[in-house]
Amino acid sequence: MKLSTELRPGIDQVGYVDYNVRDFHGYDTRLGATYNAYLILDEKVALIDTVKTPFAAQLKRNVASLVDLEKVDYLVCLHAELDHAGALPAMVEACPNAVVVCNAKCKDALAGFFDVSNWKFQIVASGDTLSLGKRSLAFVNIPMVHWPESSVAYMPEEKILFSNDAFGQHIATSIRFDDELDLPKIMEEAKSYYANIVAPYGKQVLNVLKTVQTLDLELIAPAHGVMWRSNIPAILDAYQRWASGKYAPKVLVIYDSMWQSTEIMAEEIYAGAVEKGQELAKANPSEPRLDAQLMHARKTALTRVATESLDAGAVAFGSATLNACLMPEMAAVLAYVQGLKFVQKDALAFGSFGWGVGGPEMIQKKLEEIKYPTITPAPLKAKQRPNAETLQACREAGAALAQAAWDRYLKTKTL
Ligand code: FEO
Repeated sequence: MKLSTELRPGIDQVGYVDYNVRDFHGYDTRLGATYNAYLILDEKVALIDTVKTPFAAQLKRNVASLVDLEKVDYLVCLHAELDHAGALPAMVEACPNAVVVCNAKCKDALAGFFDVSNWKFQIVASGDTLSLGKRSLAFVNIPMVHWPESSVAYMPEEKILFSNDAFGQHIATSIRFDDELDLPKIMEEAKSYYANIVAPYGKQVLNVLKTVQTLDLELIAPAHGVMWRSNIPAILDAYQRWASGKYAPKVLVIYDSMWQSTEIMAEEIYAGAVEKGQELAKANPSEPRLDAQLMHARKTALTRVATESLDAGAVAFGSATLNACLMPEMAAVLAYVQGLKFVQKDALAFGSFGWGVGGPEMIQKKLEEIKYPTITPAPLKAKQRPNAETLQACREAGAALAQAAWDRYLKTKTL
């Protein structure tokens, strides 16, 4: 069975489709993943990237179905993370005449993971070109998109950008091209990938986009998911939007609850946001509707929380008090959001307690630390069940969050 896909005569995708992965270092890969590797048969033979370590045999088999492994000249490593470099030791062993081609930082990273003392290296700098015969690869370093050694390779003769993680999506499918699969599904997964992997490095992404926009492109071949050939402007525009911090008109209410008191508050905040959204829709019929979402932290994957948080303008974070602390999943949400360095959002801390202080106060403190302005100077709190006054305050806070999200949307809609 031939499992490779031809991009052009002599250029094949030979990686692995991982239908069973559901936890990719914490990323909820509900649709599985692919680890794309590209084999170029020219006067010289080059393999761009590899796959995760457990799938080395499948990669070797796919390469060997197209060329004798002894004829592989170059093993190009664009990124040392182990979903792409994990099978590199196996390929070095299987391809006795191959030289590993990568930048200096990548060599250092590989040496941190593997014993590379017997590997042959050819170090390339940003701007260097590797001739393969009729075709060539021009390397461009893209530091911190998303590791220090991350790089891409452009093949001008075929107008292909081998983009590694950039423009990737976690989708396991035998389909290889963007115009062969439902585009909204691909874009949603590309957004999830951006939010969960690339988001902290928006500034660097904008610089990369400047370079990419100068290239004559017919195909973007990422290391995850489908290749872009019919929707290149759409994915470049989406990256521009995400990296430049453009807001959607969206409010999130994320919470965890013990005995429903915090949940009752969350529902009231959500109701306030929905009502305000309805008012805004009447007053602004030509604008998109404000989207309010209620998310139970223990029932919603962090991956989804991050994807929705990427462009939300306002977020309410709520927690019951457990052991004078906040609920563990809410601590995880706040840590994850903080690390991903999303654009600033207007925020609210809320929650319940039985005695003493805990959840709501800890959320407020974290919001101050990550510099999200809060719409109330102190958290909204309920001792056991929220009373009518607290519920009214929650509803008003929901409306205020919706207005704040709307204002952020208007400010950036023309970016
Ligand atoms: Fe797909 Fe950064 O690894």
